[in-house]
Amino acid sequence: MIQAFIPLLILAAAEPALPEPAALPVLADWPDPLTAIDGSRITTAEGWKNQRRPEIVRLFGHYMYGTMPEATGPVTAKVRYESNANSMWVREFDVSVGPGAPVIRLLLVLPKQGNSPKAIFVGPNFNGNHAVLADPGIAMTQAWVYPDRMNSKDNRATEAGRGQGLGVWNASMIAEQGFGLATFYGGEVDPDRGDERGGIQPWLRSKQAYSPEKWGTIALYAWAMSRVLDVLANEASTAKAPVVAVGHSRMGKTALLAGAMDERFAIAIPLQAGCGGTAPSRGKIGESVKQINDRFPHWFNSHYKAFNERPEKLPFEQHHLVALMAPRPVLFANALEDTWANPVGQFEVLRAADPVYRLLKAGGCDTTTMPALNTLSSGTLGYYIRPGKHEMKADDWKVFIKFTSQHLPKGK
Ligand code: GCU
Repeated sequence: MIQAFIPLLILAAAEPALPEPAALPVLADWPDPLTAIDGSRITTAEGWKNQRRPEIVRLFGHYMYGTMPEATGPVTAKVRYESNANSMWVREFDVSVGPGAPVIRLLLVLPKQGNSPKAIFVGPNFNGNHAVLADPGIAMTQAWVYPDRMNSKDNRATEAGRGQGLGVWNASMIAEQGFGLATFYGGEVDPDRGDERGGIQPWLRSKQAYSPEKWGTIALYAWAMSRVLDVLANEASTAKAPVVAVGHSRMGKTALLAGAMDERFAIAIPLQAGCGGTAPSRGKIGESVKQINDRFPHWFNSHYKAFNERPEKLPFEQHHLVALMAPRPVLFANALEDTWANPVGQFEVLRAADPVYRLLKAGGCDTTTMPALNTLSSGTLGYYIRPGKHEMKADDWKVFIKFTSQHLPKGK
């Protein structure tokens, strides 16, 4: 990530400023990911890589998620807890993203010590690491937490919440099947309450200039996922394993963004991510740009608000974000009752990213009709929908593991 951004920054400096949102043309039809800003057609893998891909990265940073913080570093990780019970190798690290930065705790669950993980799922959790496993050694987060979730009280985690997310993260199933899980509490990066108190924002803002066009909370979470990769790359037990960006809902938006921006992620699996992630911004199904901006103004940057009434002015659609993942596999997973996340629109987003995958000779979306319930589609761009509601549970993890096993990169 750090290295990947250096050429981009140089490029951005040399490029003309992007227009104000109001000055953008209306694009009622979904814009074509293979037509560049200057109107030229992208017809080669080089054109995609050198021209269009950096352009799309810049567009999302400018108009929607905000630009991510610059490299801070050095990122350090100190083991604060370790156990080897129940065929799982559990460690919790105190991670620092730079000198003086507040600690973010990273929970790493691997198969029994000595067995290399086939891949590691990386994603932020909603309630604190102590909720992921019922292990008293895992630290209880001291950060602000969501009200009335997993026995929280007055926006603080309580002992009664320990292990309450077992059925969400399914860490033991992941480890039993030979995979790893690296997760951290999003609220330790940025409490999801819409101001700059707590987390690493005050520290970051004291180190580098901040303005409202810069990172929103989703971009900050995605940036933190990349810092997790920095940690995993330095650990002998994890350095060789492919990494899969995973997350549910707002954290699913995060997972797709993280994978799109950081090419070290081998696969992205956003679950029920919806508006601002896997669902189209245009159209009338599910959550709208205005609804998400009104309720969660801090998730995106200030420019994104200008599209509340006119999402058709966005110079991209969410399939552009998927296209940034190309040639790497992506799975969109959904639930039938979760119409707020627009599962039907999400399938169209996946299909619309297909031409970029084809250009890169990376397969694509193998089906033109939405797969039946409980049926994982084949192809690099996979889709899955199950009955039920908005939640992450063991059934979902079975599909994540199946998709990952089918698409694991050969060697790393
Ligand atoms: C709300 C929000 C969604 C989001 C979800 C979640 O429903 O409108 O955009 O995905 O919360 O994160 O659970």
